[in-house]
Amino acid sequence: MNSDEFRKHGHQLVDWIADYMDGVKDYPVRAQVKPGEVRAQLPASAPEHGEPFDCMMQDFQQIIMPGITHWQHPRFFAYFPANVTPPSILAEMLVNALGVNGMLWETSPAATELEEQMINWLKGMLVLPRAWSGVIQDTASSATFCAVLAARERATGWQSNETGLGDAPKLAYYTSAEAHSSLEKAVKMAGLGKAAVRLVPVDTDHAMQPKALADMMAADRAAGIIPAMVMATVGSTSVGAVDPLQAIGIIARANEAYFHVDAAWAGSAMICPEFRPMLNGIEGADSFVFNPHKWMGVQFDCSAHFVSDHDTLVRTLTILPAYLETREGSDVTNYRDWGIQLGRRMRALKLWFTVRFYGVDGLRAVIRNHVAWAEKLAQIIRSEPDFEIVTGPNLSLLTFRFTPKGLDDAALDILSDKLLEGINDDGYTYLTRTLVAGRPVIRFQIGQSKCSEADVLAAWARVVKLARAL
Ligand SMILES: Cc1ncc(COP(=O)(O)O)c(C=O)c1O
Repeated sequence: MNSDEFRKHGHQLVDWIADYMDGVKDYPVRAQVKPGEVRAQLPASAPEHGEPFDCMMQDFQQIIMPGITHWQHPRFFAYFPANVTPPSILAEMLVNALGVNGMLWETSPAATELEEQMINWLKGMLVLPRAWSGVIQDTASSATFCAVLAARERATGWQSNETGLGDAPKLAYYTSAEAHSSLEKAVKMAGLGKAAVRLVPVDTDHAMQPKALADMMAADRAAGIIPAMVMATVGSTSVGAVDPLQAIGIIARANEAYFHVDAAWAGSAMICPEFRPMLNGIEGADSFVFNPHKWMGVQFDCSAHFVSDHDTLVRTLTILPAYLETREGSDVTNYRDWGIQLGRRMRALKLWFTVRFYGVDGLRAVIRNHVAWAEKLAQIIRSEPDFEIVTGPNLSLLTFRFTPKGLDDAALDILSDKLLEGINDDGYTYLTRTLVAGRPVIRFQIGQSKCSEADVLAAWARVVKLARAL
């Protein structure tokens, strides 16, 4: 494709994207295709000869678009959002054109130095300790995996990287029963076995109980097992619970355990001073991760991973073959040593464009609206005779249940799942499920940057209509 053809198709694509942004609300939120339907329309093998770009666009429209779930739909209230804002898309276009691999300072000094400065901006925005440093990872799961590895190395006196885990003492990793599954996955990947994970009981607000944590650590110590790491959560996936960081940090330190904090979703809200108390105690953490790609309008993927002492992380992950040595050596940051993979995308540009375009105040306004609408929705649900709020709202996340009279718990549970299927098959809005105290509930998570109060109310009206027709 020469540059004239690129220009022509590129202009068409920008028009397509702008139309999509305006028209996304007219699609069903969740893809309505059946399993295998998309693949069945694709040729079984690659074309021997090149094809015109227009044919690809036609197939994109006809085959791919029906199989897309529209995360940018204003009535997407599922999971947590993965927001895309126009300045972030434009930044990604530039990054795609540059095709930079920022593995070393030398392989693009601007990629590294912009990333360092964006980490500093985020520290200021979230009021994190100034001495911390950080890196932009792809996802929170990767940051947590790095934390698990750093904790393993620290707890084994840096021996497991050298000689493996054969003779190493047994390690234990603690998190709440509400925490994200990425901890268990990371522990498995680190070769520690999932039996090393301890799920600490939670209180009635679904937050980790510090006393139970201390007791579990003491029991492990007595059995000769080393408490290697505690992961606390600010904004749990199911219900948005917030663990008490201050108390947990004290216990972690007393046991010389690495203290990692996962605020993948809720972290963005910490730019609002009124929510920042949820992070009280963060200064005692060894590492902290949150995803600007969830609630700060920055294109997926963008996960900010902060560390209080980067030597621990770098010492855990460093490796320096001759072909990666550079003249600057350790006088500069070489982000290859801060994460799992060697090659790394330039993720800082979309953060830079987004924060500059909206300003911190603009980003705060979006989050405050979502939280306010969740409160308003909660008031409405409370006034419905046949619905109940089960948790929250915690920031902009609540869970609810349909509770028509005369049905026992088992029947209500079946009804809840049936209602959710009906909501998502309908396509007007998209909600997801979780379990609270072992029973199914429906999550309503307000976080889409295109969403308005009217969208929230319209989605709720549709839920009520579908429920009462069951
Ligand atoms: C609290 C929490 N931690 C971690 C994750 C994993 O995020 P990622 O997809 O960035 O790995 C999620 C995902 O929603 C989450 O809610």
